[in-house]
Amino acid sequence: MRVPSLAAISMSILASMALAAPTSNNLLTWDEAYAKAEALVAKMTLEDKVATVTGEGWEKTKCVGNTGAVEDPAFPSLCLEDGPLGVRFADNVTAGLSGITAAATFDRELLYKRGSYMGREFYLKGAHMALGPCVDIMRSPAGGRGWEGFGEDPYLQGVAGSETVKGIQDQNVLPLSTLLMSCFAPFKSSSNVDDRTLHEIYVWPYARMVEAGIGGVMCSYNQIDGTWACEDEYTMNTVLKQQLGFRGLVMTDWGAQMSGIPSALAGLDMTMPGDIVMGDGYSWWGPNLTKYVNDGDVPEDRVTDMATRITAAWYKMGQDKGFPETSIRAFDRDSAPEVIVDGNKEHAKIVREMGAAAAVLLTNDGILPLSDDLKKIAIVGSDAGPIPMGLNNCSDQACGAGTLAMGWGSGTADFPYLITPYDGIKSRAGDDVDIVHTYDDWDLDKATDISKDADVAIVFSNAASGEEYLEVDGNVGDRKNLTLWHNGDNLIQAVADANENTVVVIHAVGPVLMPWIDHPNIKAVVWPGLPGQESGNSLADVLFGDVNPSGRLPHTIAKNEEDYPAHIDPNFNVEYTEKLEVGYKHFDAHDIEPLFAFGHGLSYSKFEYSQLKINAHKKAKKGGVLATATVTVSNEGDRDGAEVPQAYIGFPESAGEPPKLLRGFEKVFIKKGKKAKVTFEFTEMDLSTFDPESQEWNVASGDFTVYVGASSRDIRQTGTFTL
Ligand SMILES: *[C@@H]1O[C@H](CO)[C@@H](O)[C@H](O)[C@H]1NC(C)=O
Ligand SMILES: *[C@@H]1O[C@H](CO)[C@@H](O)[C@H](O)[C@H]1NC(C)=O
Ligand SMILES: *[C@@H]1O[C@H](CO)[C@@H](O)[C@H](O)[C@H]1NC(C)=O
Ligand SMILES: *[C@@H]1O[C@H](CO)[C@@H](O)[C@H](O)[C@H]1NC(C)=O
Repeated sequence: MRVPSLAAISMSILASMALAAPTSNNLLTWDEAYAKAEALVAKMTLEDKVATVTGEGWEKTKCVGNTGAVEDPAFPSLCLEDGPLGVRFADNVTAGLSGITAAATFDRELLYKRGSYMGREFYLKGAHMALGPCVDIMRSPAGGRGWEGFGEDPYLQGVAGSETVKGIQDQNVLPLSTLLMSCFAPFKSSSNVDDRTLHEIYVWPYARMVEAGIGGVMCSYNQIDGTWACEDEYTMNTVLKQQLGFRGLVMTDWGAQMSGIPSALAGLDMTMPGDIVMGDGYSWWGPNLTKYVNDGDVPEDRVTDMATRITAAWYKMGQDKGFPETSIRAFDRDSAPEVIVDGNKEHAKIVREMGAAAAVLLTNDGILPLSDDLKKIAIVGSDAGPIPMGLNNCSDQACGAGTLAMGWGSGTADFPYLITPYDGIKSRAGDDVDIVHTYDDWDLDKATDISKDADVAIVFSNAASGEEYLEVDGNVGDRKNLTLWHNGDNLIQAVADANENTVVVIHAVGPVLMPWIDHPNIKAVVWPGLPGQESGNSLADVLFGDVNPSGRLPHTIAKNEEDYPAHIDPNFNVEYTEKLEVGYKHFDAHDIEPLFAFGHGLSYSKFEYSQLKINAHKKAKKGGVLATATVTVSNEGDRDGAEVPQAYIGFPESAGEPPKLLRGFEKVFIKKGKKAKVTFEFTEMDLSTFDPESQEWNVASGDFTVYVGASSRDIRQTGTFTL
């Protein structure tokens, strides 16, 4: 959701509350949940049902959105709260990795753990629905909200989205993802995308989340092929509810409803925050919906279906049993009861571990990990230091200064604290190492001065973006350009000119240009992304080799901005002309060399791939596994570490797909000198294409190629099979 800027940050402490752990994560099946929901809704009057499906108005409730409560039969006001990286507008919560950086772990287990700790925090705060994860595709790298999602590839988005959903739901909270493209499409524009691309790229992650049992999906602000998303029958009813068999609820993004009757008939189930214009107190639904039913414009069955979907999702998550009282006061932070959600600091530990697991080592001439006998380290750049405005002192993190640990907008949470890179490096290096620093990005003489006689100079820079209701340095959500901010290119050049052991660290929301990349003094480039509150600790873990890096790029870093297939489009009609060729698929199809490929990331160890074996099973049962590939990965280096073998599929030519598509990855930890066997299973869906005419997925037939490697451009083993 989006909101205008918000007022002061609350500092008050009220009574602390001890809360029990969620009672169970044995969620009901949809059938069980529907049986209870139908019985409940059968007792509701039309007005009760309308209250259940209509928000109570902007800034009028405890949470960023609340539905109306029903007394008899009792059904509570549901609390809906942002966002995809943690509980927004709340104190004492964890502000962890952004989606894009979580994706860079390429680690299912960690993605699940992140969903799970976030779910627990929403639960303990009494939020029924978490407005995340965001699984929209990073179509153009400058798109302001790309960092909230999991990158440029639908398969990766699908895995990350469904692991997050499972994690959140296992804590009895209902995750909600935005269908379709809200995180990326300009606020008021039309995303014009052909049906095959819609299914194969943009719907794919939602399909995987529906399989994971997701209970809610949001319709977005933009139009889809000329129809407002929240009244688009095709995406809401046909695709989501019929084709994917989604049984949960569709609700609006904040203020994205544009009509009362058409939206109801097209499959919308809940309006948020309820108003026509946010804060005006009027509604397309509420009393209007009752009237539409009484006038015969909307069948009462449709309203019954809306209420049933909402109450079923609530039963499915087990929220009818002892759900904590809502302690969020989104618009009156001072009055919020203090509820500590990470008393034993377990969540902070996950954030630190994940931050280290997500850091992508882009290049390394052997300078990393840093040696133990360094005497002097120079740290250069404002991105290494604190946020000068103070923590959480900019509206929704739109500071554009200090170290960057998340983007800006509604997808943010308040930092409980923020370990800066300087803090993290200093505490790990200890007192015996002399650490000199400057946070001045513009004083190149000073940067040169402090760098020139240091054993290592670590130079920091960043690039931020966010949601378009806030502007930072002329960036109205989207980035104006793909260059580094704050004089970054000149600063890096100056430090590299001064010190032959230069390490570059970049915190960025997405790809940046790197004109200095071939500078001979730049011995390593580290990409920690947006690591959240433990930023400096995670970075130090990797720089000093306490953790062997294993992060992988969830997006392509191009040599030139023009190399990307899609750019920010100021027109109302945004044509998805690249079709299936999103991200690396475009680079492959047009033989464009990226600077750093999708899936790239180095280790302090060295991994060899061998013995690719492929089996095709033509007679698999419906929906089953049609082919498996097994590869042996051995750690030939002198350190234990994790590798991320990736499996890409080349379809038969007749299928009309880009050269290769990610269809499997696994993060495997392998001790030095040991090896591991990794198996990829390719399901019917993995090997199918969508046929717009029949509206069906069909398994492609012919010769497939399996490419297994360490990135989309570092293929180590190749094999074929035929279906
Ligand atoms: C909870 O948050 C409040 C407001 O930011 C802060 O003053 C307090 O110290 C926090 N409590 C704990 C235990 O961190
Ligand atoms: C009903 O909807 C109309 C727009 O069709 C709006 O002008 C009116 O204010 C709404 N009524 C209420 C009570 O919200
Ligand atoms: C927040 O920023 C304002 C000015 O922008 C400053 O005066 C104030 O001291 C800051 N507050 C904190 C807590 O850092
Ligand atoms: C790109 O935008 C950033 C952030 O606004 C700005 O610092 C930088 O100077 C811009 N770069 C160019 C080449 O205009």
